Amino acid sequence: MEEKKEQLRILSGMRPTGKLHLGHLHGVLKNWLKLQDQYQCFFFAADWHALTTKYDSPFDIPQNITDMALDWFSVGIDPEKAVVFVQSDIKAHAELHLLLSMITPVSWLERNPTYKEQQQELKGKDLATYGFLGYPVLQAADIIIYKAHKVPVGQDQLPHLELTREITRRFNYLYKPIFPVPEAILTEIPKLPGLDGRKMSKSYNNAIFLSDSESVIKQKISTMVTDVERPRKSDPGDPENRCVAFNLHKLYLPEDRLKEIVEDCKAAKLGCVQCKKELANAIVEFLRPIQEKRAELSKDPNTIKDILHFGAQKAKIVAEATMEEVRNALWNRA
Ligand code: TRP
Repeated sequence: MEEKKEQLRILSGMRPTGKLHLGHLHGVLKNWLKLQDQYQCFFFAADWHALTTKYDSPFDIPQNITDMALDWFSVGIDPEKAVVFVQSDIKAHAELHLLLSMITPVSWLERNPTYKEQQQELKGKDLATYGFLGYPVLQAADIIIYKAHKVPVGQDQLPHLELTREITRRFNYLYKPIFPVPEAILTEIPKLPGLDGRKMSKSYNNAIFLSDSESVIKQKISTMVTDVERPRKSDPGDPENRCVAFNLHKLYLPEDRLKEIVEDCKAAKLGCVQCKKELANAIVEFLRPIQEKRAELSKDPNTIKDILHFGAQKAKIVAEATMEEVRNALWNRA
């Protein structure tokens, strides 16, 4: 890691929800891939955060971690370039979370917009728990325990980042200024539509997973919404403005072919069925090397465990060193 040009520290985490889809790849992972070449990066599976909303059925979280990590490494997240680990392997996050909880006013947490939104969204689940209220405090601990400068996140995480910054300032002010106040790097997430035109998401059942087989991809793409104002092939289409599937064409087909498709669609010469077959083939080809890597990593069920263990050892050294400083600051030792 020392040979990296930029010594800025980057940290980001994902809750382990299982297998990842194309939306994760284009929204988050592409960004991580770029960052791991330029900066000191820490990427981790936030399994304790997953527990805040899944405390009643936590049993599949370990498998979800493995599935997610397998996807990370298949797309090229490199454990030699970045420190990749599981949150609950680093107990120091919990210790720092506890200490930060002492200095965090409850009113800051109650004001957090995602606290109320999530409770609304996940109706039927009691999220009036102490742990869920403290979600952003744990996130703050995740970030500052590695003294991260930058945190790549989506728009939805900005309130959490703002809380991290406030908690960090408060710690620095009360005890000793040992933490950089981290900044968000807003990831430009190209809104990737799913099969039905809504944002691609596992919970909408409209996603194409990185690990989907060729036949599943072909079947799924054949159901994808195209241009609703073009019910028949003989109607001229408007792919650039009306076709949902064309958003994916733009990612997976070469520029010159896209031009031809636009012309032929507008001229009512190319039908959606055929056009989506071409898209499905392009996605299959795009995913081929990723899936080959996945198959290789899956051969030995211990591979992922070993890689994550290797990452945890590196993370632990940094986290423990920070905790020494934190304890010294808190108890006013030299
Ligand atoms: N809350 C983040 C999410 O749901 C996951 C997360 C946990 C995280 N700890 C973090 C992200 C620290 C960035 C930094 O996506």
